[in-house]
Amino acid sequence: MTMDAQPQTTQRLDQEARDIMIRNDRGGYSVPTHGLYPYQWNWDSAFAAIGYAAFDMDRAWIELETLMAAQWHDGMVPHIVFHEVDPGYFPGPDIWGGVGPVPSTGISQPPVAASMALRLWDNDPEMGAERFLPMFDGFVRWHRWFMDWRLHDGAVCITHPWESGRDNTPDWDGAMANLIPRDLGEYQRRDTGHVDASMRPHKSDYDRYLTLVAIGHEARWEQGALHASWPFRVADPTMTFILLRAHRDLAELGRRLGRDVSEIESWIPILEAGAETLWNPELKTYDVRDTLSGEWSCCVSNASFLCWWAGIDRAEMLPHLRRVNRAVRFGVPSHDPESPAFEAKRYWRGPVWAMLNMLIAEGLDEFGYDDGALLRQNTARMIEENGFAEYFDPITGAPAGGQNFTWTAAIWLDWASPRAREENRWAG
Ligand code: DGY
Repeated sequence: MTMDAQPQTTQRLDQEARDIMIRNDRGGYSVPTHGLYPYQWNWDSAFAAIGYAAFDMDRAWIELETLMAAQWHDGMVPHIVFHEVDPGYFPGPDIWGGVGPVPSTGISQPPVAASMALRLWDNDPEMGAERFLPMFDGFVRWHRWFMDWRLHDGAVCITHPWESGRDNTPDWDGAMANLIPRDLGEYQRRDTGHVDASMRPHKSDYDRYLTLVAIGHEARWEQGALHASWPFRVADPTMTFILLRAHRDLAELGRRLGRDVSEIESWIPILEAGAETLWNPELKTYDVRDTLSGEWSCCVSNASFLCWWAGIDRAEMLPHLRRVNRAVRFGVPSHDPESPAFEAKRYWRGPVWAMLNMLIAEGLDEFGYDDGALLRQNTARMIEENGFAEYFDPITGAPAGGQNFTWTAAIWLDWASPRAREENRWAG
């Protein structure tokens, strides 16, 4: 590459990323990608907001406002909001039977939104208070919902693989095997009509995903009724670390608004202690634990490396990070490449995800590790060479899953683009 080719590449990709975000904008909310995911997804939207912030601050706030408007009366903010029915996606609103103000799913997703809201405010000091104030109480109620319904020894559990966002990771193979699927009759998946089946979960996974949806739907997603008998409950580092960070960021937002944040602050030590219950002493890693069987998953995943993002510097995690990244061309693989369960192209069983890379890298930056800057450069190169895919093969970099993907474009605009780094938009 010549000396001035780099700025041109950056300019071209910045433009392409903006075009993707504009094309995926459905008016007040964005879809993750055309076709495969035609609705508003919770954590996708939070990342989308920081992408919009690079060129349209008002649109950035609207993304979060639309998401929060779908909040249920019990505080839950759903993982998918079905604004307009689209037959190209399965399972849709009729299968879920959500009971919120807008048709939606009955589970939540990793609550990165408060952390992304803090980023918006930092980038929009003049309007931050005005835009975030009307959402503050809703965020507190959502975070409280996790504290009321998803804790196990202080660690945050998922009740459906889709709740973690890491649908088919080997982390839940054990818990999924223990879950007996119902006879659901014939159903037609739509995901494999959009992308190659080798990059998606198996039918045996879908049978179980849909079994859990059917159980929740029958109980009208009444958490009190579901809590005791729910057949899948896994304590997860994704949720635990992301909620811990989100509590810290929500407390900061509340302080800026002059609000009482003592309740939020009281949640932080609970999750800090909970995170330690996810430490697998044999494998020396943060791991997933099935709360029903008590079994460890014995997996090093990219979620294990979210500890720094959560404000926890665990010395033993760095050698793991360096080891898994050395084994591939583009880190961080979503599953340990030395594990027999690793599959380079199958969704969360190996591929690299740009938005998790950003969280991991920023956590590393905050603790002064150069590994964060290296990961950013590596992610930028992966996108420069392979475009804005949903996820990437860590060995070759080949794009996988959906294309023209909102969160990859957003992560580029906000963090990975050399222009974003030069502007140092979020420093301080
Ligand atoms: C899907 O449909 O694959 C989604 O990941 C569910 O959130």
